[in-house]
Amino acid sequence: MEKYIAKNDRYDTMKYRRCGKSGLMLPALSLGLWHNFGDVDDYKNGKQILHTAFDNGITHFDLANNYGPSPGSAEENFGKILKESFKGYRDELIISSKAGWGMWPGPYGDLGSKKYLVASLDQSLKRMGLDYVDIFYHHRPDPETPLEETMGALDLFVRQGKALYVGISSYSAEDTLKASKILKELGTPCLIHQPKYSMMDRWVENGLLDVIEDEGIGSIAFSPLEQGILTSKYLKGIPKDSRAAKSTGFLQENQVTEVVINKAIKLNNLALERGQTLAQMAISWLLKDKRITSVLVGASSTNQLLDNLGSLKNLSFTTEELQEIETILK
Ligand SMILES: NC(=O)c1ccc[n+]([C@@H]2O[C@H](COP(=O)([O-])OP(=O)(O)OC[C@H]3O[C@@H](n4cnc5c(N)ncnc54)[C@H](OP(=O)(O)O)[C@@H]3O)[C@@H](O)[C@H]2O)c1
Repeated sequence: MEKYIAKNDRYDTMKYRRCGKSGLMLPALSLGLWHNFGDVDDYKNGKQILHTAFDNGITHFDLANNYGPSPGSAEENFGKILKESFKGYRDELIISSKAGWGMWPGPYGDLGSKKYLVASLDQSLKRMGLDYVDIFYHHRPDPETPLEETMGALDLFVRQGKALYVGISSYSAEDTLKASKILKELGTPCLIHQPKYSMMDRWVENGLLDVIEDEGIGSIAFSPLEQGILTSKYLKGIPKDSRAAKSTGFLQENQVTEVVINKAIKLNNLALERGQTLAQMAISWLLKDKRITSVLVGASSTNQLLDNLGSLKNLSFTTEELQEIETILK
């Protein structure tokens, strides 16, 4: 592969949105490296996807300690690609990592203790070859560890300069409020919440979005395409090269049910009437809410990513369209 030089017009079409009440702007579309960047995946393909992303103004790449498989390999591959392609561009990138799911054996490689988070961030920085991450998240709530301890570890990282900002992922509305209060007292405000949110998974509408708005926290919606279900991919069955068909994918074949696909078919028809693909409509639908700072997609090809970027051309919905979507999803 030739040496990568980013396109000069890379900032022309992307929209950047303020993350809560912080100084940080995030691209409306961000790229996640949960799948497609592990050591089971095609390295060159992953590299092309990252080049295409940055060429189109996607400045934010989201990782976690355990992304792969094998766990850690997405960060290793990303570190390699950073070195090979993005050397002169570090200050144009927002790189995030996380810890909170099981990463290594024993009592110190999982959940939310200070012991786990401190060791994990050091490992992530090493794998990616970075001095600091832009955002470090606690990946999921830990019901046993005092919130003060977990938030204290996040505050420590900012003071140490190992993370510029901190966030939480998949915390309930109630725990988000508690975490936010603790972080404010420590002097390190919570920058961002990363919840699962899509047309088909609406839990965040039940209090969480109100809390983040009140607290001045931004948000980034993960699995916005329901891992591919909200695209044209599964409308005619399960393709061999899809996440649902792969043994390493988190989407199980039994999640691609007739009921879900029938809804996707109807949504697809509506998307076509709007002049969009289903993936584009699913992303636009999330971005219509100003509380959603960014939509965090995955992609197994540059074409998918380009398709998803097309969503930015039409972010508005008529009342009738919104009503039709609700009727389909009922
Ligand atoms: N905080 C957390 O706990 C958490 C959990 C999960 C994810 N995340 C983050 O969110 C990111 C995105 O999650 P996700 O990968 O589940 O998101 P997603 O965007 O819902 O699904 C991505 C998958 O959908 C398919 N796809 C994407 N665009 C397509 C298009 N235009 N046409 C057809 N198929 C398309 C591809 O699957 P195929 O392989 O089938 O082509 C792609 O890998 C992750 O990488 C990670 O950074 C965070």
